[in-house]
Amino acid sequence: MSHSSPTNNSTRPDLDESINVTIAHNPSLITPAAAREFSNPGVDKSPLSLATFSLCAVMLIIGGAVLGNTEGSLFSYTNFVKPNYVRGKAPGVTDDAVMPPKAIVDVYVKKGQSLYSAKCNGCHGADAKGDGANFPSLVGSAWVTGPSERFSQVIMNGLQGPTSTGKVYGAGIMPAQGGGMSPQDLAFVMTFVRNSFGNTVGDVITPEMAQAAMDISAKRAKAGSAVTAEELKEHEKDLPGEKMDPATLIDPITLKVVEAKK
Ligand code: HEC
Repeated sequence: MSHSSPTNNSTRPDLDESINVTIAHNPSLITPAAAREFSNPGVDKSPLSLATFSLCAVMLIIGGAVLGNTEGSLFSYTNFVKPNYVRGKAPGVTDDAVMPPKAIVDVYVKKGQSLYSAKCNGCHGADAKGDGANFPSLVGSAWVTGPSERFSQVIMNGLQGPTSTGKVYGAGIMPAQGGGMSPQDLAFVMTFVRNSFGNTVGDVITPEMAQAAMDISAKRAKAGSAVTAEELKEHEKDLPGEKMDPATLIDPITLKVVEAKK
């Protein structure tokens, strides 16, 4: 018996493999399991083409831009605020300041506090009173409250005793503290120590003065070694630079002087 290809046999459609005999004869015979094998011809399950998707995305972006750009548009803030509404300001706030201005001495003292904690606290103590044996007190110290250039050189270079009282403390040497400080940092910490713990010098060390202190320190003949009481006699003066009224109002964020409104 010769065997011709079943699909080519037009007289025996039941042998044609492209025809599902069951469906051809009675669709109601399809079991649910079998039904899942065939896609429902009415629903196209193929994924959205990338071209269509991209086109939709582009249209959404353009549409959003158009809506968002129009005056009084969908996203306009003014649409949600009552007419004639004016935003309130905190007392004392000027048009260009976000925070109320404060006296420069208060701002510098506040900023200097954290520098003191990081740089001096460990030795001189949280109350700056020292310990009487290893670390001297900074409260009422003549070298803290006296001429600012002398104080600045102790911080910048450290100190080889004796101290202002003639006493030598502990190992007799304070290491230099200027490393890593910006002129602004030095200005903050000096202003802080001169106006805290009961010290009431009442002045402000400006970043300009602190920069001068750094220049003086760098030009020392014995640069790199701690200053001594003897050498400090050369620095018995105030740092150069324009003095500032400690009550001058500055913006506590930008630190810029707030001009009085005309
Ligand atoms: C590692 C410990 C240490 C640190 C940190 C330190 N000091 Fe000192 N300081 C000393 C010692 C010790 C002396 C006394 C040195 C001596 O007897 O020779 C001294 C002395 C001083 C004096 C002289 C006081 C006087 O009346 O003679 C001043 C002013 C001073 N320190 C300020 C500061 C400031 C401000 C800071 C932080 C920026 C600071 N010190 C950080 C240990 C330290």
